[in-house]
Amino acid sequence: MTRRTVNKGALCPKSLGKIQIRRTSRWTRTGRARWAVCCSFGRACSWWAGVQMGPPDPILGVTEAFKRDTNPKKMNLGVGAYRDDQGKPFVLDCVRKAEALISSKQLDKEYLAIGGLGDFTKSCAQLALGADSEVLKSGRNITVQTISGTGSLRIGANFLSRFHSASRDVYLPTPSWGNHTPIFRDAGMQLKAYRYYDPSTCGFDFKGTLDDISKMPERSVILLHACAHNPTGVDPKPEQWKEIADLVKKRDLLVFFDMAYQGFASGDIDRDAWAVRHFIEQGHNIVLSQSFAKNMGLYGERVGGLTLVCKDAEEAKRVESQLKILIRPIYSNPPMNGARIAATILNTTELYNIWLEEVHCMANRIIKMREQLAANLKSEGSTHNWEHVTDQIGMFCFTGLKPDQVERLTKEFSVYMTKDGRISMAGVTSGNVGYLAHGIHAVTK
Ligand SMILES: Cc1ncc(COP(=O)(O)O)c(C=O)c1O
Repeated sequence: MTRRTVNKGALCPKSLGKIQIRRTSRWTRTGRARWAVCCSFGRACSWWAGVQMGPPDPILGVTEAFKRDTNPKKMNLGVGAYRDDQGKPFVLDCVRKAEALISSKQLDKEYLAIGGLGDFTKSCAQLALGADSEVLKSGRNITVQTISGTGSLRIGANFLSRFHSASRDVYLPTPSWGNHTPIFRDAGMQLKAYRYYDPSTCGFDFKGTLDDISKMPERSVILLHACAHNPTGVDPKPEQWKEIADLVKKRDLLVFFDMAYQGFASGDIDRDAWAVRHFIEQGHNIVLSQSFAKNMGLYGERVGGLTLVCKDAEEAKRVESQLKILIRPIYSNPPMNGARIAATILNTTELYNIWLEEVHCMANRIIKMREQLAANLKSEGSTHNWEHVTDQIGMFCFTGLKPDQVERLTKEFSVYMTKDGRISMAGVTSGNVGYLAHGIHAVTK
């Protein structure tokens, strides 16, 4: 743009600021001043001048702050990824073996089908519903491969938004995984909440949950964490699940199960799927999201599944056709590597058995760290009740620390965690559990 072609003072069509002509500090080769065209925002014209800076992600922002800290004792308990007892990322042996097996086959890299790898989706549904599930036998489920648990929730939310015309309302537990809100909101659903966690006991608010469910308008959607509730680590007991299932049925609610931690809660994949299977046995035609990020350590591979349990096989076919129509313009078809790894593990007896053992070991290490944290707090001299540390289950512990105590723990001890007092037990090791207990005691006494 030259000076002659610009109308000073006019509205810039890109930035919506007023056009200005400024003398720059640079000079042309012939010694004349250089002029720049800019808008009243004081910078060169831009398409994105109206875009405001968004806040950093609450969890990934913690990792950024952790990286900048130079304290050798620093701990990152913000992010939910498993670490071994040396604090190192852990690649499962069954995954390494599956990779070697896949590599030896010299497979091609053609596109997968829209719904993903058949060997994967079949075994993914079987893992959740159980090998002798009536649903699988009668073919009244549709399972598609998704971009891990997040992608599964989002495709499920999009499907509800398009086809569940009976209600836009989706009820989330308070609190819930932070990403549930934008996933359902961006899909066009309306967010509602039900009571779940009781801060006075650091446990499950069973009565609050039942009270709130009993008031939900019929045909609303209720989101339930199948096991290892994130962020609280608080799960209903089987007897409580039974009552919830009965009431949900009375209210005629559509259940959306998020199962991101199958095997991670108890170390037993069947036990952790109990609630999902119970609801189905009771006649609930659920929506189910699965992730293999945590239980197979396939975080970056992005492998998951979305299952809709339907009335019959014919309904499942119709639903499948619409899921494909939904997925196609978003990412066309899912990536194959993670699905191949997961399918190889799930369909090879030797690898499957190694996996079961490794899931068990990961869950057990976390349970052990809970016990050691509680014991260390006691030996530090803390008089608070820390029973919830061992009562809660799964990767996360909702410590009950207040925001100011969290801030002190970070500032004085370089222990990084989310502001709600949630710590990832997977980042605690026998080498640093004493230091953590010392810090928690110091800020809570
Ligand atoms: C409750 C819950 N749902 C879903 C997910 C999805 O994770 P991913 O997309 O990595 O599978 C997570 C991950 O932290 C989670 O905690």
